[in-house]
Amino acid sequence: MAEMDLSEQLSAANPLRIDNPALIPAARYFDEDFYRLECEHLWPNVWQMACRLEQIPNPGDWVEYSNVGKSVIVVRTKDGVKAFENHCRHRGVPIAGGKGNEHGNCAKGGFICPFHGWRWNMDGECTFVYGRHLFDEELLEKDALALRPVKVELWGGCAFINHNPDAPSLRDCLGPVLDRLEARGMSKLRSEWWFGTVLPSNWKVAMEAFMEGYHVMKTHPQLQHAQPSLYNARYGNETGGLGPLVNPNLGVKENVQQCIESMELLSAGMAGLVHAKEVAIAKQFADAELPDDPQQAMPAWYAMVAGAITKQLREKGEDVPDLLDVMANHQVEAVEYLFPHYFLLTYFSSMSSYRIRPLGPESCMFEIWSLTNYAEGEEPEVPMEPTILPFDSQDFPMIPRQDYSNIPIQQKGLHSEGLDVLRLSKDREGLISNYQRLIDGYIAGAPGEKLAAANTLLGGNFDGPIKDLGL
Ligand code: FES
Ligand SMILES: [Fe+2]
Repeated sequence: MAEMDLSEQLSAANPLRIDNPALIPAARYFDEDFYRLECEHLWPNVWQMACRLEQIPNPGDWVEYSNVGKSVIVVRTKDGVKAFENHCRHRGVPIAGGKGNEHGNCAKGGFICPFHGWRWNMDGECTFVYGRHLFDEELLEKDALALRPVKVELWGGCAFINHNPDAPSLRDCLGPVLDRLEARGMSKLRSEWWFGTVLPSNWKVAMEAFMEGYHVMKTHPQLQHAQPSLYNARYGNETGGLGPLVNPNLGVKENVQQCIESMELLSAGMAGLVHAKEVAIAKQFADAELPDDPQQAMPAWYAMVAGAITKQLREKGEDVPDLLDVMANHQVEAVEYLFPHYFLLTYFSSMSSYRIRPLGPESCMFEIWSLTNYAEGEEPEVPMEPTILPFDSQDFPMIPRQDYSNIPIQQKGLHSEGLDVLRLSKDREGLISNYQRLIDGYIAGAPGEKLAAANTLLGGNFDGPIKDLGL
């Protein structure tokens, strides 16, 4: 038999790899061996959103980020943000837990191991070994005792880490979607609140609940009822045909009313995606003078509202981008996905952001930050950790609650004896296939540049088609 090359060997080691892009093997969501392959080949090689920068505003501030058993300390130093593996160079005990500045197990300007008290400064240099004379000096060489650095990049108000020192840059991996989000003022946003929950599902089941809007009609029916034309234009009605984006059978006033109602529902249901302050501004235009033809009137109305939000929030001192320019020149999808586990929901100037981390093959930590702008001096206290609620808590806004209602039952259904594959819409559920096949690319050990190029094809692909990723 001819010898297999490395990538063939690794593919052979992944019996659950995707062969037909529209069919996803169900066992990828619970099989322990597949989970192990993700832990070994995916997570150590990807950019992971590790923390929000407002959590570490001053030199000396740090937070711990952990995922699939690997813990990292992200530190603000005088020379910028650095990241280190969170282990003692003596016998491996984590030297930092949670968050801190100059208290806890963190000495003034450094870390102290809780086991035998070795110390490091914020730059990762070892500053103290208890009873140094007890060791062979050659074991205590400076470089060997320094904390192991982890690659870190800052973007969009967040620190991203990558355990692979040779990984392509964050920008090379994610591509132009970063520019589009940056143009919408991403790095100016601050966290208003931060919630978390443990979901009894594979992390990918939770991710995929946010990769298409095709579920809105059944899962969030209130959204479709408020503005049916918006959804009928994209997904058609139950029996088929796509409709116009603006309902020509309704008068301009009714169309405007539907839009406002839809924004109110998103605002109440997501508590931040469309911020209440933005809805209040939109309502000022409920009776605006507009052309009689709804097809012309509605874009004009949106432009009025976007212009007014820009103007009025700027007058309050918020550093919001010109939303008219943003809508014309930097279009984003309703959900923008940053592989592998972070995504943003956008509308006007505020956003919701989500991060999902596996806790095992069938459990994950699901976090939501609501992000908005604040005038200088009016920033609220920074949430330093998520408020953890049960996933069925009534304290979650309605829309995530509706999404959470499907996720655990889907996980159960995936175990059914007769379910071998999930079948995807080639036109609207392509992102699910695309990111899953990118995971296979990591498992197969494809070259970093190829993976990065494939990754950039995921930007703007919410509700999009199955693509050839060149892998
Ligand atoms: S394990 Fe950290 S000082 Fe010994
Ligand atoms: Fe949803």
